[in-house]
Amino acid sequence: MRRITAMAVASAAVLALAACGSGNSGGGGGGGGGGGESTDVEVFTWWAAGSELTGLEALESVFAEQHPDFTFVNGAVAGGAGSAAKDLLQTRLQAGDPPDTFQAHAGAELQDYIDAAQIEDVSDLYDEFGLTDAFPQDLIDLLTVDGAIYSVPSNIHRSNVVWANPEVLEAAALDPAAPPADIDAWIEDLQTVQDSGVATPLSVAAPWTQVHLLETVLMADLGAEAYVGLWDGSTDWSGAEVTGALEHFETLIGFTNTDRDGLDWPDATQMVMDGTAAYNVMGDWAVAAFEEAEIERGTGFVEFPVPGTDGTFGFLADSFTLPVGAPNPEGATAWLETVGSLEGQVAFNQAKGSIPARTDADPADFSEYQQSAIESYANDTILPSLAHGAAAPIAVLNAITDAVSKYTAGGSDLATLQSELAAAAGS
Ligand code: GAL
Repeated sequence: MRRITAMAVASAAVLALAACGSGNSGGGGGGGGGGGESTDVEVFTWWAAGSELTGLEALESVFAEQHPDFTFVNGAVAGGAGSAAKDLLQTRLQAGDPPDTFQAHAGAELQDYIDAAQIEDVSDLYDEFGLTDAFPQDLIDLLTVDGAIYSVPSNIHRSNVVWANPEVLEAAALDPAAPPADIDAWIEDLQTVQDSGVATPLSVAAPWTQVHLLETVLMADLGAEAYVGLWDGSTDWSGAEVTGALEHFETLIGFTNTDRDGLDWPDATQMVMDGTAAYNVMGDWAVAAFEEAEIERGTGFVEFPVPGTDGTFGFLADSFTLPVGAPNPEGATAWLETVGSLEGQVAFNQAKGSIPARTDADPADFSEYQQSAIESYANDTILPSLAHGAAAPIAVLNAITDAVSKYTAGGSDLATLQSELAAAAGS
């Protein structure tokens, strides 16, 4: 199954490439910059604040140690999941104004940049820095097209996690150590929490977090095989299984905070920290926020796989690229070396809540939660995340996000949502 899912994503990527048929612009080696001697390396991400910024800073300090001749310049653009950064990046790339390196998700999102000939083949760097055996083959496959590798992964995150406040659950006479088995059972618990007087049983934020919630409901209700089928065309978006999942989604949204659209993920997670919400579905960057707030796992928060997704790992990975025409390709190359290095991966992931993409990091260097994620990644079925670029190209994700956001804002009904999702996914 691990292989099936990786292959499904890879073959979707190949189809997209064939459809586009772009050539390589050949920029090669990046002499393209304007010849200045700047030591600046602009690193473009959306890790602009809070625990995400702390993670980036951890990587920055390893970079400063390993490459003192270069100067890290933070080009971060705020907005979780790249909700603002990706559009701005595209504008810059199209204007011929790339940063020196930018964050991109492994899988379909990276494929977009490859198709548009916006990033360089960095496979030579894999040889130079000894990275070829450092990463799991499944992951390398998601970074590779026609034998060329296009980025260096920094980490692997899990998307299908519920973060919960044990005190709020206990006050509703629910056992925090006994998570519900499926979405129906979870809905019963949400009702129980609501009946206990909690106004927001489930916190959610901006549209991308709503899509994030939806992807995990699809994983839970469709199961691994049919979920993967949504992305390779073998599952019908207009079918009854998807209708059932959307009905669940509708019920779940009914338990959420109505000010959701104006919030970003840290606000929704904060509601669980504060006990104003019982549950939040978020990727495991949330664990870094709990740790930063010194909230203890077990007593201050608990986490479990989204009900119905136990045994699966909702997968996404961040990676860094060498853009065509980067002003400082040597500096970018140095950054990629740090990103791929064991020292860089340990420092970054300890702060970020993710697990190292490298297979040679020592699990003992990471938190108990991260050790559980390492185990799940090793043993569970890997399912590509929609909201974080693994499953679908950016245009598909944007169209899905528009449809979901229109629906949750009251601008469409469930049947319209389903047909708009089908159209967005091209089925
Ligand atoms: C994801 C990214 C994570 C984290 C999250 C929230 O797309 O892969 O590293 O930053 O967004 O912003």
